[in-house]
Amino acid sequence: ANPSILILPGDGIGPEVMAEVRKIIDWFGAKRGLNFDVSEDLIGGAAYDAHGVPLTDEALAKAQAVDAVLLGAVGGPKYDNLDFALKPERGLLRIRKEMDLFSNLRPAQCFDALADFSSLKRDVVAGLDIMIVRELTSGVYFGEPRGIFTEGNERVGINTQRYTESEIARVARSAFELAKRRNNKVCSMEKANVMESGILWREVVQKVHDEEYPEVELSHMYADAGAMQLCRWPKQFDVIVTDNLFGDILSDCAAMLTGSLGMLPSASLGAPMANGRPKALYEPVHGSAPDIAGQGKANPIACILSFAMALRYSFDQGTEADRLEGAIEAVLASGLRTADLMGPEGGKPVSTSEMGDAVVKALDAS
Ligand code: NAI
Ligand code: MG
Repeated sequence: ANPSILILPGDGIGPEVMAEVRKIIDWFGAKRGLNFDVSEDLIGGAAYDAHGVPLTDEALAKAQAVDAVLLGAVGGPKYDNLDFALKPERGLLRIRKEMDLFSNLRPAQCFDALADFSSLKRDVVAGLDIMIVRELTSGVYFGEPRGIFTEGNERVGINTQRYTESEIARVARSAFELAKRRNNKVCSMEKANVMESGILWREVVQKVHDEEYPEVELSHMYADAGAMQLCRWPKQFDVIVTDNLFGDILSDCAAMLTGSLGMLPSASLGAPMANGRPKALYEPVHGSAPDIAGQGKANPIACILSFAMALRYSFDQGTEADRLEGAIEAVLASGLRTADLMGPEGGKPVSTSEMGDAVVKALDAS
């Protein structure tokens, strides 16, 4: 059987950028004989409009059954006043939670043609290609006790950083597996100097390494020093693995080394399925961008790069993923830009579909 993909375009620019990904998927079928069984369903506001809930049980069941889920974005002002449980974002939280996607992959990749768009010097970022693996389902955002309590005559806000050995081990494995497909190098970041969870984190990551992945080069760094090194000389890293809180901050920081929100893909991985590949959901980092929705202005590259990640990490098609990224690099090198990639010097931006068509043309030439 062909590998299966569930597409959840969502709201706002989600369907607009996903339409361009469909062109790419079709190209791989027609020109490379790489056929996927593609189905589509609703999530977010679109699902609420049709079914009264931001994610139906049927859509969730489909997501659990396919090899990879591709998601656009959810949300919009139309839904801002809905009950919390019905909000579009709840659809996204539910699918992530039910699929138990504990490993969040956020690449920071700098296309040469955009190196001058970064806030850092060209030689610091040009050709950069690193991956931050963030633990996504535990840590201080979830640990108990949490709450705002009264203590004497004032209130105290409490969150608890909590990690079990198995939670650390599984995200470490995810990072080591990734490293084996990349450059065999992992840097683990925590604050073992001041946090108990950091001490355990370092110990468990080292143990998983020694017992299961001795061939991968492993180093440890305090997360604050890591933040400095990321800005100073990011190319020293390849895969970085870290907890939920540090990963949230470090991945946003690393992402901005490379330019626009319209360029950033992500993947969220869970436990291995019967075929050995992890459960997976791929999505651009950006949201539904209501300010530009319906105007053909959205940059589809973040969503197309998310599909490239699916090719690489769910379908074992690393060469085809390289081909797709190469096509994007070629299009950018030719000077084509959506509006979000235009500097103050201006120029004439291309539309969402013109950008998608250009990537298809570059694939033809590859
Ligand atoms: P946003 O990411 O949608 O937009 C932030 C800014 O970046 C906007 O000016 C937007 O026009 C621009 N932008 C985003 N993606 C772009 C693209 N592909 N091409 C060109 N420009 C792009 O974040 P914002 O405005 O905070 O949230 C808007 C809605 O999206 C809200 O309802 C929010 O809850 C939702 N959201 C959904 C996410 C998801 O589905 N994963 C993530 C973040 C926000
Ligand atoms: Mg963040």
